[in-house]
Order: sequence, then C-alpha cells, then structure tokens
Amino acid sequence: MSRPKVFVARRIPDEGLNAIAAACDVDVWPDRLPPPPDELRKRVADCDGLVSLLTDRVDAALLDAAPKLRVVSNFAVGFNNVDVAACTARGVRVGNTPGVLTDATADIAVTLLLAAARRLGESATDAKEGRWLTWEPLGWLGADLGGRTLGIVGMGRIGFATAKRLHGGWGMKVLYTARGPKPDADGSLGATRVELDELLAQSDFVSVHADLNPSTKGLFGAAQFSQMKRSAVFVNTSRGPLVDQVALAQALRAGTIFAAGLDVTDPEPLPPSHELYSLPNCVIAPHIASATIDTRNAMARLCANNLLAGVKGDPLPHCVNP
Ligand code: DGY
Repeated sequence: MSRPKVFVARRIPDEGLNAIAAACDVDVWPDRLPPPPDELRKRVADCDGLVSLLTDRVDAALLDAAPKLRVVSNFAVGFNNVDVAACTARGVRVGNTPGVLTDATADIAVTLLLAAARRLGESATDAKEGRWLTWEPLGWLGADLGGRTLGIVGMGRIGFATAKRLHGGWGMKVLYTARGPKPDADGSLGATRVELDELLAQSDFVSVHADLNPSTKGLFGAAQFSQMKRSAVFVNTSRGPLVDQVALAQALRAGTIFAAGLDVTDPEPLPPSHELYSLPNCVIAPHIASATIDTRNAMARLCANNLLAGVKGDPLPHCVNP
C-alpha cells in the first residue's frame, strides 16, 4: 500500500516531523517565510494531509485544488486561517493544538501586562539610548498590580490561566466575559461574569483571550477604549484583528488609557514604520506567546497525532469541525 503524501508548510520541531515522516511521504516547505498561496496550492494538489500554520490561508480555492486531502492539521490552537466550513463540506477534518500552549501564552500575557504597567519597554530603551541621567523620584512611574481589578475578555483555558496567575500572585479581583458561566473561575478565583461594558469600566487591566470570529473582529475600537479607565492597561495575546489599531494608537497617544502590551497585531508582521512602535506606552512582541521549547515540541506532537489520525481516516485527537 502506498504511503500517504503530506505537505508540511514550514519546518516544525523534529518531535512532530519525525513522527509524520515515519508514516508518510513528506514534503516540507524549507523557507523561513510561508509558501505563497499559488505555491501552497501546487504543493497540496496530490496530498492526503496538510500541516498548516496560522500564516497559511486554507480556503475553498486551496481545497478545490487538493481533491485527495483528508486532513488539515493546524500548528496552532487558533484556526481563523482555516475555512472550517469549506473543509467540513468537503469531508476534510481540521485539527488544532489546544491545551499545550495554555501556560506559555498566559505567561506572555502576564509578561506584557507587567511590562506595560511598569513601562519596561520605554525605560529599557531610554537606558540603552543615554536618557538614564540619574535615579529620579519621578522617573518612569508605572502602575501597581496588587489588589487591582483584572478584566478577562474570553474566559477559556488561556484566560483562566492568566487570571489564575494574577489572582494568585497579586490578589487581583477578576471580572470576565464569556458565552456562558464558568463555575471553575467563579469558584477558584472568586471571579464574576459581567457584560463587556461593565468589565471595561471597572477593570484596571484588560486582557483579551477571545478567539477571532465575525463577532469579535474589531471588538476593541474608540468606544471601548473610551469606556476604560485612564489608568487602564490593555493586553492582547489572542489575534490582532480584534483590535482597531488606529483607535488604540489614538487612545495611547491621547492618554485615554495608560498603556498597552500586544503579542498580536494586524497585519503580522506589523511594519516597523507603524505608529504603534513609536508610542512609548505600547510594548509589542512578535507573536511569541507559544514560543518555548517544550511548548513548541508539545504542539508538534499534537499536530502530528492529528495529522496521522486524519490520513488514516480515524477521528482526530483534537478536531474543530462541528
Ligand atoms: C496559536 O496557537 O493560536 C497561537 O497564536 C500561536 O501559537
């Protein structure tokens, strides 16, 4: 029997790649940058499986060019790059990598929150560039975390892990939005589910963990920033398009909010000339939330398991088709 053919759209950790290569004929895209869409279409044309990244658009045109495709294994927990309905309609299973990147992502949410609150980006740049003149009583004054109110927008796994760290470490009071009640958060963190308006008005720190879908695109615009406290710190580790960046830049420039920490932007990469980089109260990381060695290895294993199940026609360990 011939081995399944698989296209892997970027080099992923060996723990996943070797498992795939042991069972399939594998074509790995060798470049650092993603394959252009027409190249991706060509490469998957006779494939049974595809390992995609969040930078690879998997849409109807791609699926139509790959009639044998049985599985798309996305190397991410988010899957907004995949048209899941189009996959489902063609009998293509879609897998993702939930759970294994929860802690790494929550760590980055907390890191950004602290960095923005304590003006770390701005003060470190000032030190490096010769603006550290002396120890100043009024220099680089930031915000305390202890006992403040944290608003978690989207109390899923990562929202919960972030809230757990900040409630446990700094005694923060936790408010959250979610589609339904979250008894775990209510019980173990004393958290309270509220409407977004109330969360924005009450929170000292707002951390976004909702997934990107038509109802969350542009969720944070001028109206939302103006509802927040002038002392508020805004953190986004979910997806860039949830935020209207023009409105965010305006809010940061005008002092409508105190600071922001972003691990995600729209587009990615954010061009170096973008205004957000020039604002001292905005810290931007290049989408590194899951970038630890152990986490990426675990993602690779999960991604391989989804792919291998899919090419065999077995149920995927983590399937996002309805
Ligand atoms: C994801 O998995 O969705 C992250 O954004 C990248 O690890």
